[in-house]
Amino acid sequence: MVRAGRRRGGSGRRRLSASLCDDVRVTDEVLAEQVDYYRRRAGEYDVTAYGDDVAAARALIARLVAEMQPAGSVLEIACGTGLWTEALAGWADTVTAIDAAPEMVAIARDRVRLASVSFEVADVFSWDPGTRFDVIFFSAWLSHVPASRFGHFWQLLGRWLAGNGRVLFIDEHIDERGKETYAAGQDEVVERRLGDGSTFRVIKNFMDRRELELRLRRLGWDCAIRRASSRWVYGEARLAK
Ligand SMILES: C[S@@+](CC[C@H](N)C(=O)[O-])C[C@H]1O[C@@H](n2cnc3c(N)ncnc32)[C@H](O)[C@@H]1O
Repeated sequence: MVRAGRRRGGSGRRRLSASLCDDVRVTDEVLAEQVDYYRRRAGEYDVTAYGDDVAAARALIARLVAEMQPAGSVLEIACGTGLWTEALAGWADTVTAIDAAPEMVAIARDRVRLASVSFEVADVFSWDPGTRFDVIFFSAWLSHVPASRFGHFWQLLGRWLAGNGRVLFIDEHIDERGKETYAAGQDEVVERRLGDGSTFRVIKNFMDRRELELRLRRLGWDCAIRRASSRWVYGEARLAK
């Protein structure tokens, strides 16, 4: 397990910049580990994320997507195994779905075989879509974006959104925080274990509705977030005029 080291000695300024460098390095390492984790988890993802009754999860997903009405061209970030992609495809003209884990994309491709849906293996932080979208959607992804990349991530979304476009997202409510084991001394890094016993570090920032609305407003987004179920929150954001 890699920990952020703190250098001793030197001026306060040097100590501060060394510590910032350490934080950036650790965050980059955890982001890479997070992709590895999902690559290895892909085969067990549906059941471990949504429970044994995947049909019930699909019904819930269909209901939530119907409430959002994601029309036009839709970008789905971090599509995972495609459970949300198939529901989005029922509303959208086209869906472009990306995920950094090839194993996830393979399962999603197999699940959603429609001419209107295209998949790509891509890291969202280094991807360039070369076009804009009417809707950008992500489920269970925003909580995996580290605080240090939050502003940059929303800048990317602003660049990729068509005029008057909407960002729609689903994520886990802060009440769910107790189920995670946070790494010692870290407030956004959790330790996850797979079925084979291997452990990984993952970023996890649960959704505090009021705090998130405020943060997004400061970044120039109008945003409304509401509780979608005991576990999930649903957010809708537009660039402020
Ligand atoms: C919690 S899963 C969510 C999957 C799906 N959206 C869902 O709700 O079932 C997070 C997903 O983020 C993907 N991911 C992790 N890092 C990524 C990155 N840098 N760029 C794109 N996708 C990434 C993982 O491979 C994984 O499929």
